[in-house]
Amino acid sequence: MAELRIENLAKTFGAVRAVEDFDLTVADGEFVTLLGPSGCGKSTTLGAIAGLEAPTSGRITVGRTVYFDASCGIFLPPEARNCGLVFQSYALWPHMRVRDNVAFPLSLRRVGKAERTRRIEEALALVEMERYADRYPHELSGGQQQRVALARTLVYRPEILLLDEPLSNLDAKLRDRARTWLAELRTRLGLTTIYVTHDQVEALALSDRIVVMNGGRIAQIGAPQEIYEHPADGFVADFIGTTNFLTGVVAGAPVTAGEIAVTLPGGQHVRLLTDKRPDSGATVTLAFRPEQMRIVAEGQGGPDGSVVRARVTSRSYVGGRWQLALDLGGSALRIDTEEPTNAPELDLWLPISGGILFPGPSHVSSP
Ligand SMILES: Nc1ncnc2c1ncn2[C@@H]1O[C@H](COP(=O)(O)OP(=O)(O)OP(=O)(O)O)[C@@H](O)[C@H]1O
Ligand SMILES: [Mg+2]
Repeated sequence: MAELRIENLAKTFGAVRAVEDFDLTVADGEFVTLLGPSGCGKSTTLGAIAGLEAPTSGRITVGRTVYFDASCGIFLPPEARNCGLVFQSYALWPHMRVRDNVAFPLSLRRVGKAERTRRIEEALALVEMERYADRYPHELSGGQQQRVALARTLVYRPEILLLDEPLSNLDAKLRDRARTWLAELRTRLGLTTIYVTHDQVEALALSDRIVVMNGGRIAQIGAPQEIYEHPADGFVADFIGTTNFLTGVVAGAPVTAGEIAVTLPGGQHVRLLTDKRPDSGATVTLAFRPEQMRIVAEGQGGPDGSVVRARVTSRSYVGGRWQLALDLGGSALRIDTEEPTNAPELDLWLPISGGILFPGPSHVSSP
């Protein structure tokens, strides 16, 4: 049973704090994704687990094995850790057939010939590549090469699978197929997996839990739906899914308990139910998902919400629907509609519940 525990992990490169205060326990068989923008410390964290990086402080254990413990000077070398690491650049040996590429880690581990043949067949079958065993890498598509790279890792039966952006070299269509296939494989294997990506669609689709990272620190840990529906702050809301941010000022006393009104630049009001109690006059940001906003006919209000007038700044056809960019009191919004419209302005309905209030101005200038 391979439960991974990371406690108080930190890694600095000179003055750069690549990872700080990182605490995470991954249950046996769990699939956890590290998600965040470029440079937020995802690969450094993965490297620390695999033993490619010596962390500055902290402790990493897998089951009962201590991989790293700064307090007592334990650092298990990478070859003594049973981790399977697959990178974005799958780096197959070009002069070796698929079968020999997959055999390579077994030769290193001195696995006997009969056992080796059996395990190669098993690993290639897992990634559905058994028919390609005698091909060379250049005779395969990018997606097929990535599968071979995965087979080369699975063949030595790692306790933990570490995947660093394994699909990012694939084109959009292939990537979509590879994601579905990876989701099926993970169900079959049930391996404890840490997956690194900066693609939020991939993270939402594949993960049991997502760790959103920002500047070397954990911004939020949660199940995909939890993170999408209850982002901890504006950064997470912005990073996961499309979010429309409206910055305004809290108007006067609350209208009723739990309900506040926010005045946008230009004077329009938005009402919102929230358990937060910002001071009157405080600058706040309201976050709405595009699917929560509705375009309504002029002068027609919607139930339980606010109707505000927004200026259309651009429109583009995105296949079956239109994407509108809007300006509302200086905030840039994006919304999809199936109705083509040439109106320079339109009315938007914002639900009274569902929007999330964050203190302070929005950290993004446009969605
Ligand atoms: N060997 C190194 N020497 C100095 N700084 C480093 C080194 N490796 C990483 N860093 C820095 O540490 C920070 C985290 O890097 P890391 O590679 O973990 O980011 P990442 O989240 O994987 O980004 P990406 O999505 O671009 O792969 C960055 O600021 C990076 O410049
Ligand atoms: Mg990286």
